[in-house]
Amino acid sequence: AEIQSIRDSLLTWYDREFSSGNQRSMPWRIHDTMETSTKSKDQRAYEVWISEVMLQQTQVERVRPYFMKWLQKWPTLLDLANATEEDVRTVWSGLGYYSRATRLLGGAKIVAAIFDGKLPEDTTTLEKQVPGIGRYTAGAVTSIAYGLPCAAVDGNVVRVLARLRAIGGDPKSTVVDKLFWSLASSLISASRPGAFNQALMDLGATICTPRNPGCGRCPVREHCLARTETDNWKSISSDNN
Ligand code: ADE
Repeated sequence: AEIQSIRDSLLTWYDREFSSGNQRSMPWRIHDTMETSTKSKDQRAYEVWISEVMLQQTQVERVRPYFMKWLQKWPTLLDLANATEEDVRTVWSGLGYYSRATRLLGGAKIVAAIFDGKLPEDTTTLEKQVPGIGRYTAGAVTSIAYGLPCAAVDGNVVRVLARLRAIGGDPKSTVVDKLFWSLASSLISASRPGAFNQALMDLGATICTPRNPGCGRCPVREHCLARTETDNWKSISSDNN
């Protein structure tokens, strides 16, 4: 029941942010309740893949023009598969971490050659067969583009979940990492997995920030163990004073 409430509150918040124009605009984002575009799932998957790789070490604001330029140059995955490494690096220039661009090209060549230009619809195949696609990118593509209930845990999501469930320990350790992935998998909305994952990411980027989180505006504050514990701690210390 609590899980359902967390899920509903997050999705309601995400939809409200979208309708009110507060949601950060992202050209690659598909808003599943308001979708009017006629893009195929495969095309969405390609666009989500490009955007997620660009977003891995770069902020949304900086990614936006690069994403637009990339899609203009290589509108489909098959266009990209025929690009040269030099072209890819040129369009990428300024974004940094150029190996990301090279891996996108390598991945596109493989997908063109063995999957007919369509990104596979399951996370295991994506991770095992497409160079450069790891667990996070596989989860983002399958949930956002294909509507499958796969978790996508990035740094923002780790912070949100760590606070929500008061999980300590080193998130880089294997055990704690496994815990975050299984927690994210158990929370995910089966009907709107892409919206749910992106709601968690947005919450981490805009409210549940590393410093001075905006708990007063948080849609899941009533469920947040870190907040409850902080409040307890505050009331204890003020009783003592
Ligand atoms: N950061 C990385 N991918 C994102 C996405 N799809 N939405 C919001 N923030 C993100």
